[in-house]
Amino acid sequence: MSSRNAEQQQFRFKYLLYLAAALPVLFFLFKNYYTDNTMAIKNVVLVGAGGNLGPSILHAFLKHSPYNVSVLSRQESTSTFPSEVKVLKADYTSIDSLTTALKGQDAVISLVGRPDAQQILVDASIAAGVQRFIPSEFGSNTADPAVVAKVPIFKGKVGVIEYLQTKEKEISWSGVITGPFFDWGLKVGFLGLNAGTKTATLIDGGKARFSGTNLHQIGLALIKVLEKAEETKNKYIYVSSFETTQNDLLAEVEKITGEKWTVTQVKSADLFKEGGEKLAKGDFSGIPALLQGNIFGEEELSDSTVQGLWNEKLGLEKESFEESIKAGLAGKLYGDH
Ligand SMILES: NC(=O)c1ccc[n+]([C@@H]2O[C@H](COP(=O)([O-])OP(=O)(O)OC[C@H]3O[C@@H](n4cnc5c(N)ncnc54)[C@H](OP(=O)(O)O)[C@@H]3O)[C@@H](O)[C@H]2O)c1
Repeated sequence: MSSRNAEQQQFRFKYLLYLAAALPVLFFLFKNYYTDNTMAIKNVVLVGAGGNLGPSILHAFLKHSPYNVSVLSRQESTSTFPSEVKVLKADYTSIDSLTTALKGQDAVISLVGRPDAQQILVDASIAAGVQRFIPSEFGSNTADPAVVAKVPIFKGKVGVIEYLQTKEKEISWSGVITGPFFDWGLKVGFLGLNAGTKTATLIDGGKARFSGTNLHQIGLALIKVLEKAEETKNKYIYVSSFETTQNDLLAEVEKITGEKWTVTQVKSADLFKEGGEKLAKGDFSGIPALLQGNIFGEEELSDSTVQGLWNEKLGLEKESFEESIKAGLAGKLYGDH
């Protein structure tokens, strides 16, 4: 054999060897690509949809999503839902009861107020073959240890995500971080503004930039998170309606009402002290002070632009700042409720 032939044979052999090595990789990539792009979500169940957030999410799904939406509610619950919605009932202490209720569902959105009720929901979702679990986040950035250090009750929410992370081979998750509910926060006074008394409580001078989201926008964001199931898989998703400060809010509110409001200045350090002391004694009335210190405090721990907003990637439309404030001040929610 000539040396040229030997070289050619060696080349062909090497080529075949590379091809043989690459085939399993190509097969794996193709299989993953194919599986990922066929994550077809059709049936969605909202768990705990009768609270503060749930009705807006349910309304958004019924009106704006292509999904078959059901609600899961505790056996002993007195929550009521629109007549067109299928209501599933289960015993939340029984994995069998929950698994039976969740059979046939592709995505579970947990809106339960108590995180300790969620681990069994995750287990039942896995047993029922659910593809995506959205835990009850919907607030501060619990992925940031500085936030959790200030508000220890968030450890429960972190625990649920950590549990989901150990189960990623069986179920995927998305944690939706919204900052404070914007219209709802104005309605109930959580943003520091009280429409009834025309008073404002500003924290650390009202200068901290924070992200806040209207309830309807959270519903739309959840629909998009499921529509883009592959992109949003096993991640925290940050969304907002607006980035603002308490000072900007107060200026807008005074413009809308045409009146000067009475302002009280407080320090976040005092809120953390007062809230922490109450909580240490088992008094849960200390929680709002901790939450407000965390959101409106000078450390700006609730500005989601730092982590990067998903609004554009999800195709969320812009909302009117002025109309959202008007709705909140009138005790209403923004959007088509
Ligand atoms: N960012 C903010 O400003 C803000 C404000 C409020 C809440 N949040 C967050 O939003 C999420 C939903 O809050 P929410 O105020 O709507 O909740 P919620 O009203 O306290 O509870 C929601 C639902 O959970 C179910 N539930 C109640 N107790 C339960 C228990 N022990 N075990 C299992 N389920 C129970 C009930 O549904 P059924 O009766 O149908 O069973 C209830 O309607 C939470 O993660 C909360 O932390 C954020």
